[in-house]
Amino acid sequence: MDINCTEKELFIFKKIAHAAEELGMDTYLIGGFVRDKIIGRDTKDADVVCVGDGIQLAKEVAKRFNPVPPVSVFKTYGTAHIKADDFDLEFVGARKESYKYHSRNPEVTPGTLENDQLRRDFTINALAISLNKSDYGKLVDPFGGLHDIEKKIIRTPLDPLQTFSDDPLRMMRAIRFATQLDFSIEEKTLQAIKDNAYRLSIISQERITDELNKIIASQKPSIGFDLLYQTGLLHIIFPQMVDLAGAEYKDGVGHKDNFYHTLQVIDNISERTNDPWIRWAAVLHDIGKPVTKKFEEGHGWTFHGHEVVGGKMVPKIFSKLKLPLNEKMRLVKKLVELHLRPISLSQEDITDSAIRRILFDAGEDFDALMMLCEADITSKNKYKVKKYIENFRLVRQRCEEVEEKDRIRAWQPPISGEMIMEIFGIPPSKPVGILKNAIKEAILDGEIDNNYDAAYDLMLQKAKQLGLAPKKSKI
Ligand code: CTP
Repeated sequence: MDINCTEKELFIFKKIAHAAEELGMDTYLIGGFVRDKIIGRDTKDADVVCVGDGIQLAKEVAKRFNPVPPVSVFKTYGTAHIKADDFDLEFVGARKESYKYHSRNPEVTPGTLENDQLRRDFTINALAISLNKSDYGKLVDPFGGLHDIEKKIIRTPLDPLQTFSDDPLRMMRAIRFATQLDFSIEEKTLQAIKDNAYRLSIISQERITDELNKIIASQKPSIGFDLLYQTGLLHIIFPQMVDLAGAEYKDGVGHKDNFYHTLQVIDNISERTNDPWIRWAAVLHDIGKPVTKKFEEGHGWTFHGHEVVGGKMVPKIFSKLKLPLNEKMRLVKKLVELHLRPISLSQEDITDSAIRRILFDAGEDFDALMMLCEADITSKNKYKVKKYIENFRLVRQRCEEVEEKDRIRAWQPPISGEMIMEIFGIPPSKPVGILKNAIKEAILDGEIDNNYDAAYDLMLQKAKQLGLAPKKSKI
């Protein structure tokens, strides 16, 4: 098989071939490495299958490198891993697997190469390349994987019901590969996903979310989300997103389908950034719409406050999907909460104080916010799109001018919460928040100068109204 391997890869494969020959084992490259080489995608690691003991082969291969890399053995799976010359190699003995319906743990017995190819998820992942002396480099393709790569088709080697029953995560993998590779899923395989979607419930959330993240990291994530929706998998893993689907009509007035709008926004943002969290913000930006939807006589459909409600939903969704509950989640929440602010700025005469406010609230994530707002333009009307883009250009320009002058993005008010507690000798409490906020608001509104003395004087006035007197003079 003519595939483009680097010198280093060829050097490593020769060593594997020699080790396998010495052990008298037939050995093959298999899986994603072979698939991606044929397609011409980047590869980062390789799976090696041998007819025999994969762990023994890994140890024999490791010996042939200097320095000898450690061999990590996974006894339960009968696999071993080595990192040779910075290249990850995973070894496994060819096997037959049989699964019980309710269990994820198969009964494993040694098998032939073909048994091993049959237990794999898709024909495109079951392709093997021989490392044996007699036919070195020959493609072993019993299920038409090469044809499926050429025709851009995802298909299971066995009856799809069997393949998906063995490991229901493969239903998500099918959609993930279709998205990453821009392939279509063969009809019977697609139908089997629809019929077995409910079986995803035996799969751990971590594995599901891993696939979802790979879909989001693809060039055109909408392909995957649409397939997840059409097959019913999305209803199981992410029902809040399904709630966005559909357009309701009343008195002849409809609203847009917020699911397909969201997919367009995700694709738009994916053209601008690979940052997974900004992409997640696009996924979730309108997630509060179904809950806030109302039909108001004379106005039509409204979604008042959907950005606030949506922001509140972010931690719950992150927690359910086992996404990190850290500053990445806070970034997504913040972008969801703020995603309408720049639009409102572009509709009115923009005051310096309004600009300072958005710069302060978005802080270092201002560029990400503007990116989301621009991706949110999905109108089919070219003139409207042009107008919105021009408005955002003006907002950006005004923000640059104000930032240049006032340096708000990395700004913190001159008196902090800790300082307030020390001056008044009070513990963390509501008055601390009130005073801190009053200082911030007065500076952003331009009512007082941005310095310690002005902030101190204002703080004393406000404190007096709250019945507080300083215990200390200025600090
Ligand atoms: N495999 C499978 N069923 C799974 C997972 C993996 O049959 N649920 C097989 C496939 O043959 C796959 C190989 O194991 O090609 C390696 O799996 P993995 O590393 O997860 O996927 P890759 O195909 O290498 O692709 P990627 O690295 O993009 O995930």
